[in-house]
Amino acid sequence: MSKRKSKGRNVILVGAQWGDEGKGKIIDLLARKSDYIVRYQGGNNAGHTVCLGNDKVILHLVPSGILHPKKICVIGNGVVIDLQALFDEIEMLSKRRVSVRGRLFVSDRAHIIFPYHRVLDQLREDHKGTKKIGTTKKGIGPCYADKANRLGIRVVDLMNPRIFRDRLNMVLAEKNTVLKKIFNYPPFSFHKMHRMYSRYRKQIAPFVQDTNLLLDQATRRGRRILFEGAQGTLLDVDYGTYPYVTSSNASAGGAIVGTGMSPSRIDEVIGVVKAYTTRVGEGPFPTEFPPELMSRIRERGEEYGATTGRPRRCGWFDALLTRHSVRVNGLNKIVVMKLDVLDELPKLKICIAYRYRGKRYHHFPSDIEVLEGAQPIYEEQPGWLVSTELIRRWQDLPRNAQKYLRHLESLLQVPISIVSVGSERSQTIFIDGSYR
Ligand code: IMP
Repeated sequence: MSKRKSKGRNVILVGAQWGDEGKGKIIDLLARKSDYIVRYQGGNNAGHTVCLGNDKVILHLVPSGILHPKKICVIGNGVVIDLQALFDEIEMLSKRRVSVRGRLFVSDRAHIIFPYHRVLDQLREDHKGTKKIGTTKKGIGPCYADKANRLGIRVVDLMNPRIFRDRLNMVLAEKNTVLKKIFNYPPFSFHKMHRMYSRYRKQIAPFVQDTNLLLDQATRRGRRILFEGAQGTLLDVDYGTYPYVTSSNASAGGAIVGTGMSPSRIDEVIGVVKAYTTRVGEGPFPTEFPPELMSRIRERGEEYGATTGRPRRCGWFDALLTRHSVRVNGLNKIVVMKLDVLDELPKLKICIAYRYRGKRYHHFPSDIEVLEGAQPIYEEQPGWLVSTELIRRWQDLPRNAQKYLRHLESLLQVPISIVSVGSERSQTIFIDGSYR
């Protein structure tokens, strides 16, 4: 952490569970105190929902700060970009009279998702049958795999017609062979794809920048930067429930490599959690609710994926898992979302340890077999049984809600700075005055 810590200038905001924690609303709130809002990993697998009165805007690629006029938004080099999806989003924004010209910049080093990535994502999932990951099928994994394999095509490569032609030719020959030999899938036409992306080149050109340079200049001028994490720490390719993860570093470290910002310039890392836990897709989930409670909380919390519409799996708050996030990200502060969803429950449980084959686990294990068989050990607390949706101050929260939150703080050893009691901007309790 740098010496400028107290000013909280450069802030990384991460999901501290399995994604869908409600980061969109918090980024939107914190954007008011930032000059630049930067995405650093993932792609259009993300879905950040921001409520504007009765209007709900879901952003997949463009940073959530775009809804604030005058803020600069950056898509960093660690993001994988589906160009058509980006253009669709820009059009959706312009229909809402949100202009992105001159304030949205795309890294020239970011990798591009091509149609063969999407097809391979789908085919590989189908091939895995019951062992599937449950991906969003947006081509994210295959694109990151190509990046690591040195088979990727970056935005800057697209901008250079000669380089692009050569690389597309080489990469497509490999893809078509894999598609035919392994999946018996028809080949992609080089000419069609080349034509389509030559059009995209003109469309993306006004947004392309060396964003590392842009952010470096911004910090030198004292501008405040908010790094917008997508997905969550438990979906991080290194620290998540591998292999049931996404393909990028969704944890705070991703902000460093995904933008080129030095760690010495980061002042604060904020983790967002739900007051309970959810996950979409396959993979272990030790505190998952039994069916009846699951459907009750899913309906009350509107727990359906913002990108795929899939129903989310829901469960009790898992302190073991969240402590893992606190450690991996070095969280300074926590934001608790959707407290109101628990309003009607007479009893609440918090998982404090796992048991597996007679052994007690106090740290989140990496072994997938342990995670799949883990029996959660819970602490119980009485619920508050009144609505919190209209509450705006900590002191007005029911005593049992305060107790629940204080208990989370003591288990995580990190202060809670904001509590959210509904999707609207106003439904927010600021505990730490610096974000008001
Ligand atoms: P992929 O990122 O599409 O490869 O999907 C890998 C895993 O991450 C799957 O379990 C997805 O459901 C999950 N995932 C990807 N993006 C998100 C997100 O934004 N929120 C929640 N889960 C996600």
